[in-house]
Amino acid sequence: MLIQVPDVLSQDEVVQFRNKLDNTDWVDGKVTAGYQSARVKDNLQLPESNPVAIELGQKVLQALERSPLFIAAALPAKIFPPLFNRYEGGQSFGSHVDNSIRRVQATGEYVRTDLSVTLFLSSPEEYEGGELMVEDTYGMHSVKLPAGHLVLYPSTSLHHVRPVTSGSRVCSFFWLQSMIRSDAHRSLLLNLDVSIQRLGGDVPDHPSLVELTGVYHNLLRLWAEV
Ligand code: NI
Repeated sequence: MLIQVPDVLSQDEVVQFRNKLDNTDWVDGKVTAGYQSARVKDNLQLPESNPVAIELGQKVLQALERSPLFIAAALPAKIFPPLFNRYEGGQSFGSHVDNSIRRVQATGEYVRTDLSVTLFLSSPEEYEGGELMVEDTYGMHSVKLPAGHLVLYPSTSLHHVRPVTSGSRVCSFFWLQSMIRSDAHRSLLLNLDVSIQRLGGDVPDHPSLVELTGVYHNLLRLWAEV
């Protein structure tokens, strides 16, 4: 399932991020690409060890913790330290599937990539093109979100970024290992969670709320790997 999470960063935070990102050194994005994706990847990126990437990556992680929708949708077990990329002057990233396992440089820890995340740091008016195109069983989805919003999609999906023909597209991107490995199971849990929240808002004393919450947690217990 492809899920959009709005307002992960405030507009003030986006401005602070962009000031720092516009004043640091970018390198060829092939540094984190696997063999197959290096052939189709054409963008700029901050190295994992870049101090600005580390500082802003931690701020992204703190922002994610404040987002109930992100937590409910991703049920994260391990999050790869967020990275940053930039596309301009016709740059693009051709069709590929993300590497299945990522090793965190600083800790040596391995993260299985269940979900891929793109957090937009440029507003759509700042650039032409640059849509993230994600394929699933229902076809191709085009994603271009306001600055501060993010999209989550299964890392099993074929995806590409269309050429940025003017302006500059700056994003944070990362992967995560979910407590729930199966996308189908995770989608069911999110649907149940959202329904329980809505019922709790509309009919706070409904007796089924306790039972449904029990079902949610018992499914989580059944399926979770932690
Ligand atoms: Ni990718």
